[in-house]
Amino acid sequence: MLRLAYISQLEADMTDERIAQMIEAAALANASHGVTGVIALEGLRVCQVIEGERADVDRLFSNIMGDTRHTAIIELDRTEVSARRYPEWSMVRLPMVDMVLHAYAVL
Ligand SMILES: Cc1cc2nc3c(=O)[nH]c(=O)nc-3n(C[C@H](O)[C@H](O)[C@H](O)COP(=O)(O)O)c2cc1C
Repeated sequence: MLRLAYISQLEADMTDERIAQMIEAAALANASHGVTGVIALEGLRVCQVIEGERADVDRLFSNIMGDTRHTAIIELDRTEVSARRYPEWSMVRLPMVDMVLHAYAVL
């Protein structure tokens, strides 16, 4: 099982409504591929963590890297893990500070 974290910058035309739709679609698609994770947005900045079987995470991240709705994508971490950190969330938006707390396993 692989867990991958990256940051990026949304295009300026991404409205709150388009962002909400994107996360809703992501949650549906992830549920059907056994992918879980979290996303935090602050202004146009994005931080996302995705986890699942390596092939599923690699496929998704290559889609995400090709997505024109954001740029400046920087992979922060790619770790083999034995258990999921977010088993209950196919994709959920968290406040940035909560994402940090989760990353340090405080929450
Ligand atoms: C910031 C950001 C996060 C995304 N997160 C996900 C995700 O968690 N799951 C997902 O399926 N697509 C996500 N997407 C969308 C993918 O880049 C891509 O559009 C989608 O996987 C294509 O699916 P399709 O080929 O079935 O249309 C995200 C896009 C952006 C810009």
